[in-house]
Amino acid sequence: MASSALLFFSLSLFFFSVFSSESSDLLLLLEKIKPALQGPSSPENLQLSSWKVSTPLCLWRGLQWTSSTAGGAPLPCHEAAVRSNRSLAADPSLQLLSIHLPATALAGSIPPEIGDLPFLQSLYLGVNSLSGALPLELGNSPSLSDVDLSGNSLSGALPISFWNLCDRLVSLRLHGNNFSGAVPDSAVSNSSCDRLQVLDLGANRFDGEFPQFIAGFHGLKELDLGSNRFFGQIPAPLARLGNLERLNLSYNNFTGPLPEAFERSKFGAAAFQGNSPGLCGPPLKKCGSRFSLTSGVIAGLVIGLMTGVVVVASVSIGWVQGRKRRKRGEEEEMEMEEDGNNGGEGKLMVFQGSEHLTLDDVLNATGQVMEKTSYGTVYKAKLADGATIALRLLREGSCKDVASCLPVIRQLGRARHENLVPLRAFYQGKRGEKLLIYDYLPDRTLHDLLHENRDGRPVLNWARRHKIALGVARGLAYLHAGHETPTITHGDIRSKNVLVDEFFVSRLTEYGLHRLMVPAVADEMVSAAKSDGYKAPELQKMKKCSSRTDVYAFGILLLEILTGKKPGSGRSEGQSDLPSLVKVAVLEEATIEVFDVEILKGIRSPTEDGLVQALRLAMGCCAPVASVRPGMNEVVKQLEENRPRSRSALYSPTDTRSEIDTPL
Ligand SMILES: *[C@@H]1O[C@H](CO)[C@@H](O)[C@H](O)[C@H]1NC(C)=O
Ligand SMILES: *[C@@H]1O[C@H](CO)[C@@H](O)[C@H](O)[C@H]1NC(C)=O
Ligand SMILES: *[C@@H]1O[C@H](CO)[C@@H](O)[C@H](O)[C@H]1NC(C)=O
Ligand SMILES: *[C@@H]1O[C@H](CO)[C@@H](O)[C@H](O)[C@H]1NC(C)=O
Ligand SMILES: *[C@@H]1O[C@H](CO)[C@@H](O)[C@H](O)[C@H]1NC(C)=O
Repeated sequence: MASSALLFFSLSLFFFSVFSSESSDLLLLLEKIKPALQGPSSPENLQLSSWKVSTPLCLWRGLQWTSSTAGGAPLPCHEAAVRSNRSLAADPSLQLLSIHLPATALAGSIPPEIGDLPFLQSLYLGVNSLSGALPLELGNSPSLSDVDLSGNSLSGALPISFWNLCDRLVSLRLHGNNFSGAVPDSAVSNSSCDRLQVLDLGANRFDGEFPQFIAGFHGLKELDLGSNRFFGQIPAPLARLGNLERLNLSYNNFTGPLPEAFERSKFGAAAFQGNSPGLCGPPLKKCGSRFSLTSGVIAGLVIGLMTGVVVVASVSIGWVQGRKRRKRGEEEEMEMEEDGNNGGEGKLMVFQGSEHLTLDDVLNATGQVMEKTSYGTVYKAKLADGATIALRLLREGSCKDVASCLPVIRQLGRARHENLVPLRAFYQGKRGEKLLIYDYLPDRTLHDLLHENRDGRPVLNWARRHKIALGVARGLAYLHAGHETPTITHGDIRSKNVLVDEFFVSRLTEYGLHRLMVPAVADEMVSAAKSDGYKAPELQKMKKCSSRTDVYAFGILLLEILTGKKPGSGRSEGQSDLPSLVKVAVLEEATIEVFDVEILKGIRSPTEDGLVQALRLAMGCCAPVASVRPGMNEVVKQLEENRPRSRSALYSPTDTRSEIDTPL
C-alpha cells in the first residue's frame, strides 16, 4: 500500500513539473484510475506499469485515445510517427475513448472517476479480481455505451444511475460477479433503452421479481438473468421482444405459467430450466388444463393476493394458510369491502348475485390457471364453501388507474343477461393488482367445439349452431342496447370468448375489458383480432372500437359457425379469409360448398331452413363500409325469423361426433 502511494506521488510530481497544459483525462488516469485498478497488490501490475509519462502515449496498454479537435476519431497509433511521439502526453486536447484490460490480473476496485471521462465509450475489465461496489458515478458518464465487468468479484447493488446511460447504452455485461439486491427500476429515466442489445446480469445474487421494465427494452438481442435469485412470474411482454436471439432465465426461482408466446419462440427448455417446479407451459411441461383439472390430479395454486405472488402449493396447503390468515386479517380487511374510491387499500366491490362474497373468501381461494392472455391470467378457483369462481387477474401495468377503471367496472357489474357470463365482483389489491370475479362455467368455448377434433364432442347440426349464434347475437344486442350509458362495446368478439353449455346456450366472456386497459395493451387486442381475422377494416386503435366493429367481428364469427373454418388472413396454416371465401363461392355458384358438411345433415333446403339467409346476414355484418352493417337488434330479428325447421335436432344431448355418419 505504502509503496504504491509513494509511486503515485512521485509520478504526479514529475508530471506537473514537466507539463503545464496536460489533458485532464491523463491526470485522472494517473492520479486516480491507475492506483484504484492496481489495488493493494504488489508488485505493480504489468499492464498498468506501461501507463507513465516517460512512455510514448500510444504504448500505454489497453487504452484508446481521441483528440477533441479530431472530431472523435481515434488517435492513429498505427502510424510510426504518432506511435513514437513522446510529447503527445502533453497535448491537452487528448481524451480517453476506451479502457480495455480484460484478464490482466487487476486486483483493485472500480474508481468513481471513470464516470468523469467525457469521451469514454467502452470499459472492458472482465475476468480480473476487481472487488467492491459499482460506483454510482459511472451512471453519470457522458459517453459510456459498452460495459463489460464480467468475471470479477464486484458486489453490492446495481446503482439506479446506470439507467441514465440508457439513451446510448449498447451492452452491459456484469456476468459472474457477486452483485445482489433487486435490479432497480429504470422508471425514473423513463426509457426503453432503445440501443441496448446485450444485458447480461447472469450468475450473480440479484433477487426480487422479474424486472418488468426490461421487457420494454425493444432492441435487446441477448438477455441473461440466469443463476440469480429472481422469483415470481415471467412477464408476457418479454416473449414479444422481436429482436431477442439469446435468452437465459435458468436457475432462478421463477414460477407460474410461462407467457404463451414462448410456445412459438426459438427458446428451448434450457432457457428456463432450474426454476421453481411451478414454472410451466411450453417449452417446459404443460400447466394443468381445465379439462384435466376435474380429475383432481393436479395440485392447486394458492392465489396469494395479499403478497401479489402466485405460488404453487397443494390444495391442502392452501387451506391451511387460508385458515391462518383468516384468524389474523379478518377484522380490518372486512371493513374495507366496498370501501369508496380512495384506492389505497385492498378492497372488494360486489355486484348482484355475490352479495355473500367476502374479501377473505377471495383471498383464500385455491386456484388453477386456466388460460393466459396478453393482459392477464384466468384462474378457476374454489371458495372455502366449495363454490367455484373464475378469477381474472389483470397484469400489473395493463390497466388504467383505479379512478378511470371504477366507473367501467361498475357498469360491467350491472350488465345481466342470459347470454353474458356475469361479473360478480371486483377486487383491487393494495399493490394495484386488479381481479375480476366471474361465475365459473364448466363449458367449452365455441372455438373448441368448432375446431377441436375431440371425441365426445356433440354434433353441431344447424339447429344447434343457430341457437349458439342467436345467443351470441342477443348478448351482444343487450350490450349495445344502451341500458347503460355509454353503451358497452364488447371489443373482443371471437369464438374463444363464447362459452357454450350442454344445451347450446352461448355466453359471452371478456366483454368491455378493453376499456380497462392502457392504450398500448388495448391495441395489442387489435393486433390479435387482426391476425385472427376478426378485426374490422376501419379499426386501427382500440379507442375507435364501436358497436359497428363488434358487428363486423360477429359477422366473422357467424361465418365461422357456418363454414366450420377458422377465420384469419388466410396466410397462416389452418386459417381462411372467410368473407373472400364466401364471395368466391357465390360467384362460382357453389354457395352450398362453403357450409360445413356437418351443418347440412338433416337439412332439406338450405333456403327454407334459413341457412342461406344466415350466410347473407353474416356477409352483411362483414361489409367493409361500417355504415351499411346492420345493428345487432336487426341481426337478432333476422336470425329469429329464419330458423331451422327441425327443432327436434336440438335435443339429443348424448350424440357425439363419433356418430356423425348416422343420420339424426
Ligand atoms: C507530437 O504530438 C504533439 C502534440 O499532439 C504535436 O504537436 C507534434 O507535432 C507531434 N510530433 C510529431 C513529430 O508528430
Ligand atoms: C458475496 O458477498 C457476500 C456478502 O455480501 C459474501 O458473504 C460472500 O462471501 C461473497 N461471495 C463471493 C464469492 O465473493
Ligand atoms: C415517459 O415516456 C412516455 C412515452 O414514451 C411519455 O409520454 C412520458 O411523458 C414520459 N414521462 C417522463 C416523465 O419523461
Ligand atoms: C444459462 O446459464 C447457465 C448458467 O448461468 C448455464 O449453465 C446454461 O447453460 C445457460 N443456458 C443457456 C440456454 O444459455
Ligand atoms: C422459491 O419460491 C418459493 C415460493 O414461490 C419459496 O417457497 C421457496 O423457498 C423459494 N426457493 C428458493 C430456493 O428461494
